[in-house]
Amino acid sequence: MMNGMRQASAENADFAARMPAYVVRVEQCMDSALPTVDQVPERLHEAMRYAALTGGKRIRPLLVYATGECLEIDPAKLDIPATAIELIHAFSLVHDDLPAMDNDDLRRGQPTVHRKFDEATAILAADALQPLAFQVIATADHLSATEIKALISLIAEACGSLGMTGGQAIDLASEGRQLSVDELARMHGLKTGALISACVMSACSLAAEMSDDKHRAMRQFSHDIGLAFQIRDDILDVQGDTEVLGKPVGSDQALKKATWPALFGIEESDRRCIELLNSAMDQLSLFGDAADSLRTLASLIVERVK
Ligand code: IPE
Ligand code: IPE
Ligand code: MG
Ligand code: MG
Ligand code: MG
Repeated sequence: MMNGMRQASAENADFAARMPAYVVRVEQCMDSALPTVDQVPERLHEAMRYAALTGGKRIRPLLVYATGECLEIDPAKLDIPATAIELIHAFSLVHDDLPAMDNDDLRRGQPTVHRKFDEATAILAADALQPLAFQVIATADHLSATEIKALISLIAEACGSLGMTGGQAIDLASEGRQLSVDELARMHGLKTGALISACVMSACSLAAEMSDDKHRAMRQFSHDIGLAFQIRDDILDVQGDTEVLGKPVGSDQALKKATWPALFGIEESDRRCIELLNSAMDQLSLFGDAADSLRTLASLIVERVK
């Protein structure tokens, strides 16, 4: 037992071993939700499929499934937020890479969508991925109307101007500026944290019953993991390997992005990641061994090299 991290129980120790099956599962769901390339407009559909199905760690769906394991939720129900959130994430990456935003040419080891296709197609593919996410939720026959409503409002908020999109606006407006710690944490919380948090909270919204304490703990856990996720992303932009990452290293510095390493250096950024991981782990104590999958995943998210 180190730094508040608990040993995974025998029962749940193998979440890492179960991850590939969950990845296959969500990719199958995305595949069947996405329009086929033989439908008009074929090129738009090809770009949507390329954006959504070409690689990616699928961390957000994994968070949905791990939270679901903790709360004993039927995986068939979890497929819905897992698929919807990953489609939204895919749209956000397409826009993030555009020349008007981060102007990156490489994503998931492949040319970015606007490089592979063209800018207009990339914009439209992302435009179409977003409503598809909500269509997946709205048409889920095995969810109740109450569950559907909860998922739509929770995920819409996380994606909109008070969530990811707002965070992206602040990110762009902050290029070349030095932000305060609070401003930086707020920007990270919105552009990345909001959607990460929605993964955990959407699984919570499908739980039969949850005490206020447990709800609060899950919210804080997801908040901490979301911030640590983006700090690690910023560290990897400095220290990572383009081959391993599948996206260009040094992109943030070239654009004078407001990042944790730019403000505090690598060592302090690493320290903050560990601190946030420990705080996240503390939140899970309320759930006992049932949260071991979340513990495993939280460690993987914070300690990742890609
Ligand atoms: C990258 O997210 C964008 C950020 C929010 C930092 P991921 O690191 O989850 O990217 P993929 O989906 O694995 O490519
Ligand atoms: C992106 O942050 C956050 C999104 C909402 C897509 P970054 O711009 O740092 O993500 P990468 O490094 O390009 O994946
Ligand atoms: Mg960006
Ligand atoms: Mg970027
Ligand atoms: Mg980055």
